[in-house]
Amino acid sequence: PTGLLSDTLGRPLHDLRISVTDRCNFRCSYCMPREVFDKDYAFLPQSSLLSFEEITRLAKIFVAHGVEKIRLTGGEPLLRKHLEVLIEMLARLTTNASKPLDITLTTNASLLAKKAQSLKDAGLQRVTVSLDGLDDATFRQMNDVDFPVAEVLKGIEVAQKVGLAPLKVNMVVKRGTNDAEILPMARHFRHSGVVLRFIEYMDVGATNGWRMDEVLPSAQVIERLKAEFPLTAIDPNYPGETAQRWRYADGAGEIGVISSVTQAFCRDCNRARLSTEGKLFLCLFASQGHDLRALLRGNYDDQQIAAAVGHIWQARGDRYSELRAALPPDASPDGGAKRVEMSYIGG
Ligand code: GTP
Ligand code: 5AD
Ligand code: SF4
Ligand code: SF4
Repeated sequence: PTGLLSDTLGRPLHDLRISVTDRCNFRCSYCMPREVFDKDYAFLPQSSLLSFEEITRLAKIFVAHGVEKIRLTGGEPLLRKHLEVLIEMLARLTTNASKPLDITLTTNASLLAKKAQSLKDAGLQRVTVSLDGLDDATFRQMNDVDFPVAEVLKGIEVAQKVGLAPLKVNMVVKRGTNDAEILPMARHFRHSGVVLRFIEYMDVGATNGWRMDEVLPSAQVIERLKAEFPLTAIDPNYPGETAQRWRYADGAGEIGVISSVTQAFCRDCNRARLSTEGKLFLCLFASQGHDLRALLRGNYDDQQIAAAVGHIWQARGDRYSELRAALPPDASPDGGAKRVEMSYIGG
């Protein structure tokens, strides 16, 4: 009913990323360093979370504006109680082209072996698993809660078995911490049907102590891989995809690199983010969101909320990574505003 949207840079609205909890059972140092996210950290109280009905009501409005993909994130989304119920509700929505929505989630897989079947039954199509290495000691150190890699691999196996496919694995690469895991990860996931993606360590949030010298540029990741396995570049699945895709020349499958730091992809960025408490963020690096919960809980009908969302998107001009790339290495385009945390906004 609302017509298709375009922001001030001509970018459409395609993906909606919904964070369903700001909590996580891991303490990855690049995301929730335990010195900050300790027992005194103030996570969101239950009363401020959007209910499943509220999330679905908003999702429907976004879908009418042209959204075709919904990704559930966290924190760790599988920690949200009865998540399957939300997935069932979202799976009933159809896109403007009357196709089913692409519904997926990004998880650390600690609970995946247990939940994969019920997620699939609820209507989830695929999952993306975060995994930063195969070496058990390195992985335990990176998740910082001593979680064993074998259980994540088990989760991946079960998810593939129940048909949550194509399954993707995200590896955040930190130079000097886990870059020795690049080749072992590649070897492990060749021929498995899993799409492995290497992510440049990003300067999200304000607590991870990000430094440029800990970023390993994707070009170097590709160089290291090519030394062992010939690769051919392939086209994106859709405009604005985060990853640049590559195919193993010998037919062993596909990998990707996500190069937000060295090759910003803001030009086609078509992603909106909804926080657990119902704030709409227009960029992963934003410091402020637009309070949609106030509209949901105020006296507004769907049309009014749809109009508000439309105006917010049409006024959007965010392109943080592009601006940062034009500055000296450790300077920030927002003048040091307190950016939201990754665990709050879901990546
Ligand atoms: P698919 O293309 O559907 O597989 O998902 P995705 O790559 O959009 O989502 P995923 O949650 O797997 O994110 C992969 C990595 O890209 C994570 O590190 C995200 O934080 C990062 N990312 C996702 N969207 C953006 C974005 O718009 N900007 C930046 N800078 N990073 C992003
Ligand atoms: N830089 C890059 N990726 C990150 N992720 C979390 N924090 C960072 C960071 N600082 C990844 C997670 C997950 C995805 C949503 O974002 O590992 O795969
Ligand atoms: Fe949890 Fe994912 Fe953040 Fe690690 S990266 S602390 S698994 S939300
Ligand atoms: Fe989009 Fe912001 Fe990421 Fe650029 S930095 S791609 S605008 S979320």
